[in-house]
This record gives sequence, C-alpha cells and structure tokens, in this order.
Amino acid sequence: MGNIPWWKRSVVYEIYVRSFFDSNGDGIGDLAGVTEKLDYLKDLGVDVLWLTPIYESPGDDNGYDISDYYSIMDLFGTMEDFKTLLTCAHERGLRIVMDLVVNHTSDEHAWFLESRKSAENPYRDYYIWRDGKEAADGEMTPPNNWSSSFSGSAWQYDSAAGQYYLHLFGRKQPDLNWDHEPVREEIFRMMRWWLDLGIDGFRMDVISLISKDPGAFLRDSAIRGHSVCANGPRIHEYLREMRRRALAGYDVMTVGETPAVTISEAKRYAAADQSELDMVFQFELMDVDGGESGKWNDTRYRLSDVKRVLGKWQKGLYGAAWNSLFWNNHDQPRAVSRFGDTSSRLFWNKSAKMLATALYFLQGTPYLYQGEELGMTNAGFESLSDYRDIESLGAYEELVSQKKLVSHADMMRYLKKSSRDNARTPMQWDDGPFAGFSRARPWIGVNENYTWLNARAQAADPDSVLHYYKRLIRILREDPIVCEGGYEDLDKDSEALYLYTRNSKEGRIWVFSNFSDKEQRLDEEIVPREARCLIGNYDGHQRGILRAYECIVYEYVTIHGTA
Ligand code: GLC
Ligand code: CA
Repeated sequence: MGNIPWWKRSVVYEIYVRSFFDSNGDGIGDLAGVTEKLDYLKDLGVDVLWLTPIYESPGDDNGYDISDYYSIMDLFGTMEDFKTLLTCAHERGLRIVMDLVVNHTSDEHAWFLESRKSAENPYRDYYIWRDGKEAADGEMTPPNNWSSSFSGSAWQYDSAAGQYYLHLFGRKQPDLNWDHEPVREEIFRMMRWWLDLGIDGFRMDVISLISKDPGAFLRDSAIRGHSVCANGPRIHEYLREMRRRALAGYDVMTVGETPAVTISEAKRYAAADQSELDMVFQFELMDVDGGESGKWNDTRYRLSDVKRVLGKWQKGLYGAAWNSLFWNNHDQPRAVSRFGDTSSRLFWNKSAKMLATALYFLQGTPYLYQGEELGMTNAGFESLSDYRDIESLGAYEELVSQKKLVSHADMMRYLKKSSRDNARTPMQWDDGPFAGFSRARPWIGVNENYTWLNARAQAADPDSVLHYYKRLIRILREDPIVCEGGYEDLDKDSEALYLYTRNSKEGRIWVFSNFSDKEQRLDEEIVPREARCLIGNYDGHQRGILRAYECIVYEYVTIHGTA
C-alpha cells in the first residue's frame, strides 16, 4: 500500500474539546486536558485527531462562532498549550486536524464590528448586507423569507448599519462574503499561518455553503437558506483557489463538511486529482430518519434505507473520489442509541461493536467520535433546562412556544432522540465524581450511566466495546482489501441483515451484520467455505446463523499466481 496517501489509511478521532477532559477544574474541557489523554488515544490506535474549534469565540455556538482566528479561547488555554499539544501528539505519531469555520464569523469579530459601521467602511463587503423590503403598511421586512438553521429569519436588521445581514446559522454568526477577494486573501493567509505552525489539515465547516448566488437574495424560497446556498455558483472555483493559494506544498488532509452534497458534486469536491478537497462528509445517511419536519420527530430508521444510501456512495465514488465513514459526530445523536439497541446491557454491547464493524469495513476514512469507542449513549435529559445547544433551544422556542406546532411533551421526546447535546455530555473516564471528566460541575450534565459505562471499567474488561475497537482498528489499517476493494451488497431488502462483500485482486472480505434483536439465518451459498474469520462480536460462531446484533467478518486472501 506504499503509494496510498496516509489519510486513506488513517482512522480519525473527533475531539469535542469542551467535553473531553478538564485539566484545571473549571468544568470545561481544555487543550491541556487533551494532551493528558494522548496516551489513551495512542493506545486506542487512531491516527488523526480532529479538534472542534478552539479559537477565540463568545461561545454562542460552542466555538463555531469565531471572533479571532489567530488566538486560542481563554477557557481552552493558551497558544503555548496548543503548541505543547501539537508537539506531544507528533511525538506519538498522532496528527492534528483543525476545524476551519469560514462560512461565517462571530458578530464580535473585528471585521464585522467594522463592517456594520457604515456602507463606506472598507470592511463593509466582508459580509452580506442588503436593504429590507417595505411592506404596504410601511413595516420593514427582511430581503427574503429564508429561515436560518437555528430558527427564525436568516436576516438580521442592524440599526447601526441600516441594513440586514445574512446569517444562515445563528444571529451572532454573520456569513462572510466570499465573492469579495480580500476575504479570500485573509482566509488563505490565516490557513497558511496554522499550516506553518505544523498542523496536519483542516475539517472545513459547512464549506459547501460559501459561494452564494447574489441573485438568490432577491427570491423567497420554500426551503431553508442553508439549502438554497449549498453547492453555489463559484464553489469549485473557490476551493481550487484555496488549494493553490493556501494548501499547495503542505502534506495535509482536508475534509469538507458539505451539507446537500450529491454524488456528482462530491466527485468534484473530493476528486482523486486532489484539485479541491481530499474527502467530504455526506449527510444522506444522517437524514435517513428525518421526518417531514426535519430532525424533530421520533421515527426510527429503516435498515434498507441505510443500505441504499451507503451502497449508493460506495459505488458512486468508487475510483473517482474518497468517502468518509461516520455514524455520528458532535451534531448528531449517539450512534448506538440511534442505530443500535440500548434496551439491555447485552444488546448495547453487541450492537455498539456491530455498528463499528458494519461501517468501517466500507471504503473510506473512518471517523469516530469521542466516547463512541466506549459505546456512549444519548444524554437522557429530562428537563429543558438540561439543554445547552443553540439549535435545540431555538427549535423549542419556535415550535413549542411561538408557533405552538408541537406540544412540550412531544418536543422533549424529540430532543431526547435528536438533540445535538446527546453527543456533547462529558467523556466518561471513570466512575468517580463527574465521570472523572472534571473536579467541578461540568458545563453540561454527565450521563447517569457513567457509573458502569466508562473508560476505566472497559480497559479492565476484555469483552468491552473499547477492546473491540482496538482490535478492529488494527485490522482495518493493515488490510489492503478494505482500502481498495470494490463493494457488493448481497441483500438490499432485508430489514434485519446487512451483508456485503469487498473485492479486489488481493482477495475478498465478507461483512455480515445482524441489525435486529432476533436470531437470523443466512442463505447457505453466501457463507464462504475457505475464508478465515477476521473479527466478530460473539465468542465462537455458528455457521449460517447470526444471533442478536451479531457481526462476523471473513477474509479470503488470494495467493498470487493461483487466482
Ligand atoms: C457545522 C458544525 C456545527 C455548527 C454549524 C455552524 O455544521 O458542525 O456544530 O453549529 O456548522 O457553524
Ligand atoms: Ca478547563
């Protein structure tokens, strides 16, 4: 696998810094806390750490609202702490990828403070300003009807500026104007500054939204502003420019968070010639259980939909672009709660392992989210006051309080299933106070199951989810068929079984997973005869049978010359 780029052979671990480990006892995770846990991460076997934003920020969207790209948020530490983390990570062979949030800044960023001063200000065009419309009664309304992703209008009137500015996300997250050349110049300069510090790449926040069609601002739309602006007219031009002006010459990885990306767009974003990005996050998988009202519902996914989406992306990008593989992240509920089964400890343990197996043997770079390697579960919050997330609170305010479309009880159920806070509870290190995350009460509640579900307990238990992940990661990283093989789905319709093969000139892998709590029988002819078992989540295996949430992987390696 000599000529394969390192990021195709890597496992990425996402760290939500605020909730990972608090080194100084203020209840908030920090950079020194990450440094302290590097040996844990090395031992797990991951290669790359993606840090969610650590830059100076008022914290309205937990750091996705940046007020200074060149400094570290006080709560997380100092630039010295960052450099120490980078050095210590590199000493252990771990790479660091930073979050790059450049679709918008905070409204407290110096550019925005200037921009709003007057139409003549040199920073005016850094953001997107438009006049409002005057209704018949003389009332002023926003330039169009777009809604923001965090509820309410995507336009905010600014009395100092005398105009509205666009914010596809929160009111305190004004969108940058990428059509204005000085904006691109500033961003590319900032990226080179971080690359020169020695970081190993960027995860690019909502990067598919940066190019907006100015004509669209004149039109109303039935969909969110966010969706109107995805894959805009100059997006590929800007990413190519970024490749030339910011990334060229650095051996780094780039992954684009690309809402509304299609296969044909992904083939351009993540083209094998590396003219834009290395890979993208697609969201079709995350949308499989979305109802008419988007994420606020309590529908459960159907396995056939999961398989359809995964298969489509496996086949669609094969040989043309590179996939990323994830069941969850800091914006999604916990994987085992959503796609697995937490109704008993046995099913929880088996389904957490099965999910990792079913996904990570596909082609693409695996991303695991902190605590997933322990099978951490949804938060289980009972009261609205437990929630911290701007999106969740905004949705409650709009759907329950203002529009009265959803009852309080229903919304509490939906939040329990879909809120982003489900994944943001503190990492469960041990069964001590606050799960060993902090000496002080954390900024968000600890999941009550930390008494038995924690890293220390799992390190001592050979049958734990944690031990399984370690085994799995070692296998994945060494296997050429996983990296290069083609994909075949053996049963597209079953709502219980996910059965696929990966095929290359080196051999074949069979991945069999039971997504149900009932024993399932396999067709005789699909069970391989001569293959060896690579990994499975039960002790011993009965040919042709998959017990509740059982997974098993076989491999047959071609002996060169005899195939
Ligand atoms: C991305 C981030 C999310 C954030 C949003 C706005 O989706 O992952 O956490 O709220 O962008 O920056
Ligand atoms: Ca702290």
